[in-house]
Amino acid sequence: MTDIFGRCRAWSAYRAQLDPAIYPYFRSIASRQDGTEVEVDGRRLIMAGSNDYLGLSCDPRVIDAAARALARFGTSCSGSRLLNGTLTLHEELESEMARFLGRSAAVVVTTGFQTNLAVAALLDRDSVVFADRHNHASLVDAVQLGASKHRRYRHNDMAHLRHLLETTESAGSRLIITDGAFSMGGDICDLPQIVKLAQMHSARVVVDGAHDVGLLGERGRGVAEHFGVEEQVDLVITTLSKCFGSLGGVFAGPAEVIDYARHHARSIVFAASLPPANVAAALAALRILESEPERRRRAFQVAEQLNNGLRAVGFNTGDSVTPVVPVRAGSKLECLRFWSELFAAGIFVNAVLPPAAPEGTAVIRITLSALHTDQHIDRIIEECTAVGRRLGFIPSTPPISFERVKMACSV
Ligand SMILES: Cc1ncc(COP(=O)(O)O)c(C=O)c1O
Repeated sequence: MTDIFGRCRAWSAYRAQLDPAIYPYFRSIASRQDGTEVEVDGRRLIMAGSNDYLGLSCDPRVIDAAARALARFGTSCSGSRLLNGTLTLHEELESEMARFLGRSAAVVVTTGFQTNLAVAALLDRDSVVFADRHNHASLVDAVQLGASKHRRYRHNDMAHLRHLLETTESAGSRLIITDGAFSMGGDICDLPQIVKLAQMHSARVVVDGAHDVGLLGERGRGVAEHFGVEEQVDLVITTLSKCFGSLGGVFAGPAEVIDYARHHARSIVFAASLPPANVAAALAALRILESEPERRRRAFQVAEQLNNGLRAVGFNTGDSVTPVVPVRAGSKLECLRFWSELFAAGIFVNAVLPPAAPEGTAVIRITLSALHTDQHIDRIIEECTAVGRRLGFIPSTPPISFERVKMACSV
């Protein structure tokens, strides 16, 4: 018989061999993350690895709203939304988010991950889910929880999606599920084609707007607003941990679907509700997001500056059109070296290794905030160039020409 802890022992042995200098995870930060700089091991680093795209997590108005809710309601609701965990504040955020997203109803959930898991409540063995291969892990898990059939189409490959829709028999319901902006690549889904195919094949469409709600579209309503196809999208999910400077998630759509989800989704029913301070922070962030579109503009401006600056010296940044800027960084070990040299040079980015990135194509994921200054961006480009040249990722002289990126910005 094998010991269930055996795998942990094997992992510990593997971990013990890793050079701590190039181990990029669980680095503890000793300061607030004000969107641009942090303190790690007594050093000041440029934070270029946070998802606080609009720089709202340390905005004084957001902190003040959270502090007032903390003083009024305490630290926790100590119970599920269904039972004792619903505050008037949750209901206020739900109606504000439904209005903002142009949906008839919304439910606030404790994390973005749990919000995606709630999709499982709509699925059964007869359902077929068609999902982009680069979808977030929480959507993959939702499909597994729902026990439905899972057909994964090649990333953003509409011919493949069409083929799967045409060739998959189903007696039950069909659902196409996709990230709006992809969390690792910073590219966006081909939503106009997806909704067209959904109509042709009687499928519902769910979009996880974790990285696009708050950023894309004229009013920040996400990728569906960006493409002008909001009415053809059935459900919108977003997290509150990125553009809303908080924690939590929102599931928005037709009132009957939201009411069903809040009574049946296990990740909602069997979990304590979002703490009051986080609800109030998200509400305050929503107000700022709507009244200060210049934040969205700035987030895209710095992203464009960085993306083109990196391309100009020869880096491959893929198809990113958002403040998530991935830099292809070769093998696992090459990526870790790249990461550790940037870290030593004072730049905090994220190393994304397989299986989170495709095998052989590890990625340095750089994420920006509306609060980064031009000087921050110049420094990031400068350090990436120096390290990239030293490690042979890019040539020692810039290429003669490069293709400039145009961001998916509508403001
Ligand atoms: C696309 C996507 N969906 C959902 C989530 C989960 O959100 P949260 O971390 O707020 O729980 C993430 C988190 O990174 C994400 O990138």
